[in-house]
Amino acid sequence: MNYLKNLFKKKLKKIAVWNYLDELKVEKKEVLSAIKKVLNSGTLILGDNVKEFENKFAKYCNSNYGIGVNSATDALFLTMRSFGLKKGDEVISVSNTAVPTISSIVAANGTPRFVDIDPSTYLMDVNKLEKSITNKTKGVIVVHLFGQCVDMDKVIEICKRRNIFLIEDCSQSHGAKYKNKIAGSMSDASVFSFYPTKILGGYGDAGMVVTNNKKINDNLKKLRFYGMEKTYYSILEEGYNSRLDEMHAAILLNKLKRLDNYIKRRRKIAKIYQSKLKETSLILPCEKEYNKHSFYVYVVRHKKRDEILQKLKEKNIFLNISYPWPIHTMTGFRQFGFKEGDLPVTEKVAKEIFSLPMYPSFNLKKQLYFIETLKQILK
Ligand SMILES: Cc1ncc(COP(=O)(O)O)c(C=O)c1O
Repeated sequence: MNYLKNLFKKKLKKIAVWNYLDELKVEKKEVLSAIKKVLNSGTLILGDNVKEFENKFAKYCNSNYGIGVNSATDALFLTMRSFGLKKGDEVISVSNTAVPTISSIVAANGTPRFVDIDPSTYLMDVNKLEKSITNKTKGVIVVHLFGQCVDMDKVIEICKRRNIFLIEDCSQSHGAKYKNKIAGSMSDASVFSFYPTKILGGYGDAGMVVTNNKKINDNLKKLRFYGMEKTYYSILEEGYNSRLDEMHAAILLNKLKRLDNYIKRRRKIAKIYQSKLKETSLILPCEKEYNKHSFYVYVVRHKKRDEILQKLKEKNIFLNISYPWPIHTMTGFRQFGFKEGDLPVTEKVAKEIFSLPMYPSFNLKKQLYFIETLKQILK
């Protein structure tokens, strides 16, 4: 422990749950060269880089089409607009997710409904889905949260039988697998975020929809571009500006080559946590036997969470909680009639979970120092 402490006395100022600077040091040349190429190309919007990234990322997700947009929030919103949600239509998801999964339902005219989560994975409890479906249900958004896929077989069967749409929110699960199927390949349309913290992250906002459905592809390509197919002539009565830009597409194209390695690193970091923390009082993440987790975040659980986080802060270690407040209890969503007590598992878990540092360039020395510090606090 002292050895590790001394090792870091000089260099280690702070440990955070996420950091991109070390990774950037390695990739800076490629990033700058990609930007330079775009600047010199004469095309900044909807050019060859966007097309190539859409094609390559869709292929990576075993899908036919990719539609690059501004963010996953827009990807969700535009996909639901293209499904033609009308006031009163219900969309079922989970309350343990990022707010945009749900705010996009509201923005697209829908009414959010929630299913409680499985206490072992913190993902949708698929055994409770069918009970939540009403004659107003238009679709389901499953969220492959933290890097792990929802148990999809049952969800797919229910959505097909009930003839309702299914969207995968893969914002946190690039490259994750369910029964050997890659995240994003199991629904009508899937959305991805390339926000900087994500498994495939840029240096600003970006997102994509992937789908096998040509009609959805064609519609979304217009919706993201003022309702137009060609400049200045609109064929849809609604249209937005949500275009992935050339610079981000070029940067992400470069990073896509490294994606499988990023995931390998994340899984390695997770394995070290698993082996070094298994004897502590923390509840560690559970990777279902049919899944390949891509560990966007490494989420642990402890009854004394807030105390632990405070003590770590005093040691210059800053962790994060994804997510401290279930969405159905937030004032912004009270209009839909939810109340505390509606989703007991979600509510209990939200009080106890927190995320350990996890990013590909989080090196072994830092990780061991962090683990030792955490173990001291847990004693
Ligand atoms: C599960 C989930 N859905 C949607 C989003 C929204 O992504 P973006 O920031 O690209 O709009 C995020 C990002 O935080 C997310 O984690």
